[in-house]
Amino acid sequence: TPALNIALLGGGTVGSQVARILTEDADALTQRIGAKLQLTGIFVRNPQATRDYQLPAEYYSDDIDEVMADADIVIELMGGVDPARELILKAIGQGSNVVTGNKALLATHGNELYEAAAQAGVQLSFEAAVAGAIPILRPLRDSLSGDRVTRIMGIVNGTTNYILDQMDTTGASFNDALAEAQRLGYAEADPTADVGGDDAAAKAAILAHLAFHAPFTLDQVYTEGITQITDLDHKAAASAGYIIKLLAIAEQLDDPAGVVLRVHPTLLPRQHPLAAVRGAYNAVFVEAENAGELMFYGPGAGGAPTASAVMGDVMSIAKRKLRGGPGRTHTARRELDSLEIGETTTRY
Ligand code: NDP
Ligand code: HSE
Repeated sequence: TPALNIALLGGGTVGSQVARILTEDADALTQRIGAKLQLTGIFVRNPQATRDYQLPAEYYSDDIDEVMADADIVIELMGGVDPARELILKAIGQGSNVVTGNKALLATHGNELYEAAAQAGVQLSFEAAVAGAIPILRPLRDSLSGDRVTRIMGIVNGTTNYILDQMDTTGASFNDALAEAQRLGYAEADPTADVGGDDAAAKAAILAHLAFHAPFTLDQVYTEGITQITDLDHKAAASAGYIIKLLAIAEQLDDPAGVVLRVHPTLLPRQHPLAAVRGAYNAVFVEAENAGELMFYGPGAGGAPTASAVMGDVMSIAKRKLRGGPGRTHTARRELDSLEIGETTTRY
């Protein structure tokens, strides 16, 4: 059986779950694509640390060259801009395909990375970067690419939805709810981006890029987080029949302003469909000229749900690669029975 080498950068909340799936589901994945997905190493800061899912010690390394050597697919799940940016560029430069969930990086340096991948002829995939397990980027990029999207509105940050939900339903304090969101693996390593709205803003920029076929960056999003919202606000909203949700909105206006992007707390009637999105779940409404209204819903954060989206990208790249697709060619190839349609390109 041919093998594809997988290097994992990051063995934290999401990386551990990707390592678990690659290990525990190895036989099923091999059967599905006719090739072995071989996890060759995990790049971490502290190779001695205990992990949520622990592999033998030899998998963990703080030597990036050792981990990335001979990788067909590099999965970046470290987070942050540096050194993730340089390491993704290094992976692309050596001809590896890349999967990442790093919305902070994509919303600031996405164009540089997409260009580099296009020039190198490798795939750069990032379904996990927006709304955790929910397949939302592929539908926007592929299924709706012949339509005209006019508006996207949704709850795209699990941590803040969890905090607002806990404050609303149990009367928990902001700090206690945030601590629990961190414990459950929903929050970023530095949760400032969650509660301050920047994480949702990064996702709004990525969604808008795919939906409106033009590059958008984090600094184009008006951003307001949830740090100023108090218990009194929740009570006042509830007594008037409303609920407070942090919404991300990207809409195409008919005036010269063009596409407007914003993230801010919003009062929603309690019977609104988005009011029913609880815990760390996310939901994204898409309005398109011909399709009408679509809604995507599911777990928006957490190790296993996000790892599911990462693995979808890995499998998609692996299938293409085995048909002679993108990236370096030191591994064996195999003809697939079925033709996969509509796979991603590196340009949006
Ligand atoms: P964690 O903080 O749990 O894990 C980060 C991992 O990267 C750790 O294993 C850490 O090593 C390693 N790492 C970080 N910096 C370095 C460095 N400079 N050198 C070597 N290793 C490094 O993050 P998550 O797993 O939660 O998130 C990973 C990525 O996925 C982020 O981009 C995040 O935004 C994204 N994401 C997360 C989701 C979630 O629900 N958690 C959902 C969707 C996307 P060590 O363990 O030794 O410290
Ligand atoms: N910190 C992010 C959130 C992880 O809470 O939504 C998922 O992108």
